[in-house]
Amino acid sequence: MPTFHQTRSHGFHRLRIAAIEKETPDAVVVTLHIPAELKKQFCYHPGQHLTLKATVDNEELRRCYSICSSPLDDVLQIGVKIIPQGRFSTFINRQLKVGDELDVMRPQGSFGHRPRSDQQGHYLAIAAGSGITPILSIIKSTLAREPDSTFTLIYGNRTSRSMMFKEALADLKNRYLSRLQLLYLFSQETTDSPLFNGRIDIEHLNHLGKILLNFAQFDHAFLCGPETMLDDAGWVLEQAGIPTKRIHSERFNTGQAQKAAPPANLAGRSETRVEIHLDGRILNITMNAGDDSILDAALRQGADLPYACKGGVCATCKCRLKSGEVGMRVNYSLEPDQLAAGYILSCQSWPKGEGVVVDFDV
Ligand code: FES
Repeated sequence: MPTFHQTRSHGFHRLRIAAIEKETPDAVVVTLHIPAELKKQFCYHPGQHLTLKATVDNEELRRCYSICSSPLDDVLQIGVKIIPQGRFSTFINRQLKVGDELDVMRPQGSFGHRPRSDQQGHYLAIAAGSGITPILSIIKSTLAREPDSTFTLIYGNRTSRSMMFKEALADLKNRYLSRLQLLYLFSQETTDSPLFNGRIDIEHLNHLGKILLNFAQFDHAFLCGPETMLDDAGWVLEQAGIPTKRIHSERFNTGQAQKAAPPANLAGRSETRVEIHLDGRILNITMNAGDDSILDAALRQGADLPYACKGGVCATCKCRLKSGEVGMRVNYSLEPDQLAAGYILSCQSWPKGEGVVVDFDV
């Protein structure tokens, strides 16, 4: 029988569960109660995510979940779908109760859109499965704030039964009849048109592009789903002429850590020192050949650094490189301007020599 309790540490706030609603047989929407004194810290932009922490079966787990509510709703909700072998998502769906408390970091992430009433655009969103979660927030907020903007959503699921936010999307369609277009694809359910049978892939997108949509008309595209869908959709949209910088992607976080491999020139080194600035203090740690990353070395030596996915996806572990040089294995979350400003992902970084100083207080 799984057991759990929550503890507090760096960057986390303990929040009460105000409501849990069943969305599909294996997905729920969780509403978090934000006390008045934390309202400011928990302001968010559509598309951002929360990092949650809990101890499940005596092991501390952290996961990121996208916010599905809109900042205009004055509520904070996340959508959580059970993933195969997903211990945290199963815990949320099967054990968490109204009135329980969870440790939650303030909203983070650069994916999404900042709607403005003086802005007008034709937007496209492509989502698969629970990838709809941040997309729902973006669509809802944009259509409400930008009265002349339109949104087209291509949304893939196995079946209509497994589809999250079916009713919420139908409500939005009723409210914004001429400004919202919804196109649903099902991979394990047959529809009247072969155009909508199957996964979102290059073939289906090209087909949609030929028959129904002119992809080149869209000002921005927002993609969220598994890696293959992101690759396929990104390729089709680029071919159609949407500039890469206007295609915004959010990758699924599966909870599988990507280990940061040290550069070859450090393979034989026994120890490298790294200076960490955190909460106005300076910590000196040493990295051994066995440490996967600066983050892992720091955690091993008792530093309470912020992190969640350890896979280069969520950017919770980001810090600024003040001096020295690091290697970074993967980066799915930092934007080019953040990299240019010296930000790195500590869960993916390895010092290339002595003199590395990183700052988490930025
Ligand atoms: S912990 Fe998620 S990117 Fe490093």
